[in-house]
Amino acid sequence: MAMELSMILRATMVGVAPIALAVAADAAVSVDSEAKVFRLDGGGVTYAFGVDEKGYLQPLYWGPSLAPRDKLSAGAAPELSGFDPAGSVTAQEYPGQGEGLVTEPGLKVAFANGNRDLVLKYQGYRIAGDTVTIDLTDIERPLFVSLRYNIDPATGIIARDATVRNAGTAPVRVDQIASAILTLPNQPDYRLHYFSGRHAAEWTLNTQPVGSALTVLESRRGSTGHQSDPWFAIDRASESAEESGPVWFGALAWSGSWRISVGADNLGRVKIAGGYNPYDFSWRLKPGESLSTPTFYAGYSTAGMGGASRLMHRFQLAHILPGAPAPKLRPVLYNSWEATEFNVNEAGQMRLAEKAAAIGVERFVVDDGWFGARNNDRAGLGDWVVNRSKFPNGLAPLIDKVHGLGMSFGLWVEPEMVNRDSDLYRSHPDWVLYYPGRPRTEGRNQLVLNLARDDVRDHLLKTLDDLLRQNDIQLLKWDYNRNWTEPGWPQMKPEDQQRVYVRYVQNLYYILSELRRRHPGVEIESCSGGGGRIDLGIMRYTDQVWPSDNTDPYDRLTIQDGFTHAYAPAVMMAWVTDTPNWANGRSASLTYRFLSSMQGSLGIGANLDKWTDQDFATAKAMVAAYKTIRETVQRGDLYRLLPPSPGNERSATLYVSRDKRQAVFFQMLHSSMRRDNPLAVALRGLSAEMNYHVRTIDGSSLPAGMPQAASGSYWMTRGVNLLQRGDFVGDALVFEASDRS
Ligand code: DGJ
Repeated sequence: MAMELSMILRATMVGVAPIALAVAADAAVSVDSEAKVFRLDGGGVTYAFGVDEKGYLQPLYWGPSLAPRDKLSAGAAPELSGFDPAGSVTAQEYPGQGEGLVTEPGLKVAFANGNRDLVLKYQGYRIAGDTVTIDLTDIERPLFVSLRYNIDPATGIIARDATVRNAGTAPVRVDQIASAILTLPNQPDYRLHYFSGRHAAEWTLNTQPVGSALTVLESRRGSTGHQSDPWFAIDRASESAEESGPVWFGALAWSGSWRISVGADNLGRVKIAGGYNPYDFSWRLKPGESLSTPTFYAGYSTAGMGGASRLMHRFQLAHILPGAPAPKLRPVLYNSWEATEFNVNEAGQMRLAEKAAAIGVERFVVDDGWFGARNNDRAGLGDWVVNRSKFPNGLAPLIDKVHGLGMSFGLWVEPEMVNRDSDLYRSHPDWVLYYPGRPRTEGRNQLVLNLARDDVRDHLLKTLDDLLRQNDIQLLKWDYNRNWTEPGWPQMKPEDQQRVYVRYVQNLYYILSELRRRHPGVEIESCSGGGGRIDLGIMRYTDQVWPSDNTDPYDRLTIQDGFTHAYAPAVMMAWVTDTPNWANGRSASLTYRFLSSMQGSLGIGANLDKWTDQDFATAKAMVAAYKTIRETVQRGDLYRLLPPSPGNERSATLYVSRDKRQAVFFQMLHSSMRRDNPLAVALRGLSAEMNYHVRTIDGSSLPAGMPQAASGSYWMTRGVNLLQRGDFVGDALVFEASDRS
């Protein structure tokens, strides 16, 4: 245990008595009351902060586990020069914007009389279960901030959030509020990794040095966005690599406008601030009101980017996803969007369902076009009633047919949107986000319903609840195909209109959670024109996500490589679609397309009406093979052995089951270069002692010279040689532990 209990019991701090020591399995929140030091220990990680003699809350440590005897203490920082007063030189765990602060604040406010000086100092702490809450208050005004912390004992991932409460008698305007400020150890050569992207080109991983120029990752779009994602990882250029060295990482659980900033202050201390995006944000906190932030999750790995992502994957499965700690495996699904687009009807969908069932598909999903006057993207959104010319008897005959074929049934919806050409918009033109008298900019011919309004929220909840009551549905594919433009909420007082950024997302989460509560058998997919809304906030309510509309199998390798740095392969839907691909015109064999998609949660989105007998035979074999490795792909540990970076001839990934008894190796050739050079690829994560038999995924013979069985040690040092020639060629090997040699 990190602190002496006797010391803890001799507490003198303002706090809740008796002083508690929270211990959850291998994790602990401990308090050294005398030194005023707080420690979170778990998963091989220590995170510590403390109070200095002036009452500032200071970050003290974040990294590999410290020994219980290691002493930490906070000390007041002196003025550096006339240009740097003490309050700004002091590294603070959650600074108020005041007293000359020149780094990112935790909280920036304006009091009713125009005073904008906020200095937050320690007031006390509380412990409940495994969560420690630190209370801060302004040095003079009754404005309180509570910072909550806990640590996951298995992964060492810390959860932080903040709540501001106005205990005064006049309103206080909140201009900026972070969930947390994180401070890295004072070391050199940090590198920031982050995502960039756009529609059909999400999840590009970027790397740049961390310096004193502030780097801002953000969405100003009202939603998570394709352009970036609320995730970061920071490693050390001189020490870290894919499977080695330190990595600090984090992700914000928020699906609205967000911001994560990274930069070093003038003393070289690297800070990461994450929370609501202050861009166009304002929240007038009335007397007695509180405002809470989303959770900022942050972790540390000693095993490089690979280790960091494996911790994130485990954490999501154990704590974030619906059904955690045992979320359900993803069924193999079929979706006809790329095959039929809006041209869905009962006979066509039934025919596709029969063909899908014949190849082993387990879930059949009807996409856009089944409702209202939805024959193209110019009409119908908002009218969630079955289109009777396409489905004369409603959806029931199709659903019965799908169930009769042994598959579950999924349906596409885009509840937050409305076309002008819809009954809903004709009845409620004021239900959208808009500024009176200004243009209402459309995206894909649609406007965004203002979910921040409770009447809109209630209407959507009832509509979706009715849909699920009237139809035997097992999955909603929840789409969202544009971002905000004129985010007006004219029904509110001007000073309260910018609450829209928070209230909208809170109401979205409310609808999702309420639907799940009322319909526990229904799963949800988060889709936003591909990967525009993927974050730890929406993932609490959604079982799977659609990473990109780009289904080209090679582009998908790069997308999947980026995606898995932050999020689990288990939620990553990956469809096999037709060739040449719509996104880039590239052609690839059906086997290559399957092997690309089998690295996530397998789906099929091709036009089965055009498939040959040979295609069906290949697909049937691949779907059956996927079912033998699905648990390892969706639950196991992922090793990105060779990234599919531009210029790399081939890429390789490895999935190892938790018990290490199965491993699946994928090797994907882009284009062979020069003369055959099948360098060996060493596997990772196996048990050195176990004996592994190897087979090809499709039952074909093993490459010449490859033993049928060998120890984990052999595969991890000698590696595998797979000679591949040509363009876009894929292979997969399955390793099974066996007692036979
Ligand atoms: C965008 C999604 O990403 C696609 O998969 C499809 O559902 C279309 N919307 C339908 O309009």
